[in-house]
Amino acid sequence: MHIIVAASQKGGAGKTTLIRSLAVATQQAHGPTAILDTDPQGSLTSWWNRREAQEPALVKFDLVDFEAGVAKLEAAGIEYLFVDTPPSVHPEMGALLARASLAIVPVRPSPDDLDAVGDTLGLIEEAGCPFLFVLTQAKPRTRLQMQAVMALAKHGKLAPTVMHDRTDFPTAAISGRTVTEVEPETASSREVRDVLQYVMEQLRKDASKGMRKVA
Ligand SMILES: Nc1ncnc2c1ncn2[C@@H]1O[C@H](COP(=O)(O)OP(=O)(O)OP(=O)(O)O)[C@@H](O)[C@H]1O
Ligand SMILES: [Mg+2]
Repeated sequence: MHIIVAASQKGGAGKTTLIRSLAVATQQAHGPTAILDTDPQGSLTSWWNRREAQEPALVKFDLVDFEAGVAKLEAAGIEYLFVDTPPSVHPEMGALLARASLAIVPVRPSPDDLDAVGDTLGLIEEAGCPFLFVLTQAKPRTRLQMQAVMALAKHGKLAPTVMHDRTDFPTAAISGRTVTEVEPETASSREVRDVLQYVMEQLRKDASKGMRKVA
């Protein structure tokens, strides 16, 4: 099972929006998927409770019982687990990242957000977790976006597709859905599918190197 964790200590970076969008698109295109909410704010859980669809499955287990939870999901045939995390360091975060196949770090293109990336990266690198950046909530064709691309590319892999600031994302969440469920042929849906394709490529590369692939 692949474990994909959204990580950013900066509040509002776009973790929850990104992780649920990718989880739904994975369920649509790749196979049985589950989501886990480790944020006490419970935004992912509240979103899922507004959904009609039962998939991707919202699973609940304590991070201290992570291995047992993972084993149960694998036994149930879940292939992908997407984990949302809070904008803070909680004690189990290091262990979660050490166990993850991939960390995804959403970053808004602003100097304040770029400044905060170092703290998140410190945690991810300490855990030895493969990671990639995704630019989120970007206004199209701005200098800020170009500057952010250049700054992030120095520190790690950056998804070639940017998730722009689009009302589609919060609008879909009103009914507990994501953009690819509401309307597959919009710019926002294409962005999600493109980012997911990049995520899947990274998972395949790491798996072929024998890294962090679970059973
Ligand atoms: N691409 C986007 N376009 C427009 N709005 C977005 C986009 N991504 C996120 N948002 C909005 O920005 C806000 C913050 O996003 P989100 O809740 O996903 O961030 P977060 O990192 O999970 O926040 P927190 O750190 O509080 O958990 C939300 O209101 C969300 O609807
Ligand atoms: Mg969140």
